[in-house]
Amino acid sequence: MTKTQNHQKVILVGDGAVGSSYAFAMTLQGVGEEFGIIDVAKDRTVGDALDLEDATPFAFPKRIYSAEYSDCEDADLVVITAGAPQKPGETRLDLVNKNLNILKSIVTPIVESGFKGIFLVAANPVDILTYATMKFSGFPKDRVIGSGTSLDTSRLRVALSKLTDINDPRSIHAYMMGEHGDTEFAAYSAATVGGLPFLDWAKANNISDDQLAKIEDDVRNKAYEIINKKGATFYGIGTALARLSKAILRDENAVLPVSAYMDGQYGLNDIYIGTPGVVNGQGLAQIIEVPLSDVEAKRMTDSAATLKQVLNDGLK
Ligand code: 2OP
Repeated sequence: MTKTQNHQKVILVGDGAVGSSYAFAMTLQGVGEEFGIIDVAKDRTVGDALDLEDATPFAFPKRIYSAEYSDCEDADLVVITAGAPQKPGETRLDLVNKNLNILKSIVTPIVESGFKGIFLVAANPVDILTYATMKFSGFPKDRVIGSGTSLDTSRLRVALSKLTDINDPRSIHAYMMGEHGDTEFAAYSAATVGGLPFLDWAKANNISDDQLAKIEDDVRNKAYEIINKKGATFYGIGTALARLSKAILRDENAVLPVSAYMDGQYGLNDIYIGTPGVVNGQGLAQIIEVPLSDVEAKRMTDSAATLKQVLNDGLK
């Protein structure tokens, strides 16, 4: 297909539950003109492309097809969801060895295709696999982004909107930060509602510290709850990925939670971890260094130490 200047092309690698939910979200939202799907299960990509293209007359025009790695050459964005998913009882970090090997077999042919766009990584453990994608690809850090705590941030906003009378989660500016996993935390001290510090607003509305701590805990455990009940999580992350893709493809300069490479921010170096950042057509334009309380700053440091340990063990 001829690719004109404003024609946006996305390649998805990994057509499991997360990948196909993302593909569906991208189809319904009309982001990008071309969407190729790669998976070792080739038949599934053909079937999914045929099924998804049937949705386009009800949504937006888009060419959707089963792709090859060579199709990455002129893609603007490659999204990686491929990898073993968490089974009930497994942590995200338990997946590291399996998924590092799968990732290497994916990133190598993408780079060989001549791809010059942006990598968006969602496979778990996402902070580790995003770091590995940067290393395996040799791409500059700004062009390799992980989905980080975007889903957890959405979970936090949903939980807070249920607790308060603010039913629109978009009106609550609060972030989950750190590892997308068991050491993540809610950055409550920097959260705001309509410009008011969230903690002041919570106090005035009789919301206790215990309630906030429970919400943070529930958010941290929500994936486990969903996996126990239905085997996997996919709609939330699929839609989070579509939001990140839109910020990239439409050059939005939107502030979104991502897994970003730390270069001194939060006193951290040479690691990918969840923080808000400015996302645009070049990838990550800037990290927003959230002013954390002492307790939160310590949790960021501890979360990074956990990830560093896994990186040292896994990527030696
Ligand atoms: C999630 O948080 C499992 O990482 C996936 O839903």
